[in-house]
Amino acid sequence: MVLNRRKSKQTLKHFVDKIQVLAVVCNQWGDTGKGKFVDFFSGWADIIARGTGGANAGHTINVGGKEYIFNLIPSGILYDQYGKINVLGNGMVLHMPRLIEELEKLNELEISYSNLRISSNAHVTMPYHILLELVSEKAKGKKAIGTTLRAIGPTYADKIRRTGVRVNDLLNPAKLEEKVKENYAFTEAVLKGVFGLRKKDIAQLMKDERLGSGRYVYKGKVNISEIVAHYSFMGNEIKHLITDTKELIERKLSKGKKLLLEGAQGLLLGIDHGTFPYVTSSDPSINGLCSGVGISALSVDLCLGLVKAPYMTRVGGGPFPTELEDEALAEKIRKKGREYGATTGRPRRIGWTDLVALKYAVGINGPNLVLTKMDICDGFEELKICKKYIYSNEEKSIINGKEFSKGKTTTSFISDGEMLSKFKPVYETAKGWEGPINEFEAYNDLPKELRNYIRAIEKFTGGKVRAISVGPGREETIIRD
Ligand code: GDP
Ligand code: IMO
Ligand code: MG
Repeated sequence: MVLNRRKSKQTLKHFVDKIQVLAVVCNQWGDTGKGKFVDFFSGWADIIARGTGGANAGHTINVGGKEYIFNLIPSGILYDQYGKINVLGNGMVLHMPRLIEELEKLNELEISYSNLRISSNAHVTMPYHILLELVSEKAKGKKAIGTTLRAIGPTYADKIRRTGVRVNDLLNPAKLEEKVKENYAFTEAVLKGVFGLRKKDIAQLMKDERLGSGRYVYKGKVNISEIVAHYSFMGNEIKHLITDTKELIERKLSKGKKLLLEGAQGLLLGIDHGTFPYVTSSDPSINGLCSGVGISALSVDLCLGLVKAPYMTRVGGGPFPTELEDEALAEKIRKKGREYGATTGRPRRIGWTDLVALKYAVGINGPNLVLTKMDICDGFEELKICKKYIYSNEEKSIINGKEFSKGKTTTSFISDGEMLSKFKPVYETAKGWEGPINEFEAYNDLPKELRNYIRAIEKFTGGKVRAISVGPGREETIIRD
């Protein structure tokens, strides 16, 4: 399979041919083109596996003039017809109605998924998780995280509490009922005690479309038996796809098969390394991803960290030091880059690419970078690059054990979301390039200003840019020789 129709002498195929495990992760706040690159490498891989997050992800693929968006299904699914195995790993959280909807959509599009496999250990999002998220996001007011309302947080919370429902439980109704009863009792106590809801308020909220449009309500009360029956039914619908995916991957790797790991979200949204508390509830780093499919991070031969440049985006709440104040410019980029959430349709916030944050990400996800959406800023005279933050708050703060007062600068990323919001970016300027760059085929033919911009990124972050993306299509990819 030809990965790249361009004629650059040494293509990425040249070096992926020598490796067995390749990962595609995001070094920013998500939406950097993971879907495009996972599809791009799926021809090379034998197994494509996701290991983190759930239906909060929205991964877009553009092939043959058609656009596909996947939430839970791995982006290698278009290769199922060639016998490639797509895996939903143990680290994921699965919203069953959404999963079944996605499978039905595949049926409609006549895309096969006969080699899809779902980990029996993945956790299941239950209706009361969604209820809890709706209520708690609303109660946060201005401090809302701006989640995708897919109940990622409450589902992972039950996993961490060691009470959550796993996929295998769906096939064992007695066990499922016991867990659902226990977890619902806990959630109901929180809804009543913390959020002041009464039974009838809960029943009213349960009429929301996302909560089964009232199907779980009987005589004004939440009906546990109906939840258990419905989730057992959905479990049975996917029974033939459920397996021990860790063991499956191990077996295939021992036979020399190639594994492609598909990251979700982005490092700066991670529960451990992101801008806490304005984060998701999984670890989207290469380490979290490996754990979420059940392999050692030591077995990853190449981890590609995706980076939007020269602008970046964020959806939802939380600090974004380089966010553009010039709304007209932001809107111009948003329109050209079609920066609207693939999952929620929300307009994405726009800012300049932040090298302080990128250097931090390189320290965790490693040095290999792919720059995406570089075509969007074709024709810009000037670009801004952030290599430093300046503390801009009147009140002093202690951050990582150091005192910060107004005017103090740092070149280190601040992963405390509240603290990071007290900093402003310090910019250098770089020359822009003329476009359209998607007409180029070889890296060395690209405009000198663009190559200088890349050099500046590499120098500051210690990263190495292996490829750049100049359009949404599979073929709009320039590999560096
Ligand atoms: P993901 O979540 O990382 O998979 O990214 P999304 O699919 O949410 O968002 C990326 C968007 O940019 C999608 O609409 C892609 O089709 C599109 N895209 C990816 N790479 C490029 C690129 O290099 N140039 C342009 N113009 N669009 C791109
Ligand atoms: P992909 O895989 C962009 C953001 C939400 C919110 C925060 C927490 O397409 O890159 P959650 O629903 O996870 O509890 O929301 O994380 N978020 C994403 N932003 N891309 C994503 O996924 C995201 N998944 C979650 O907007 O700010
Ligand atoms: Mg996305």
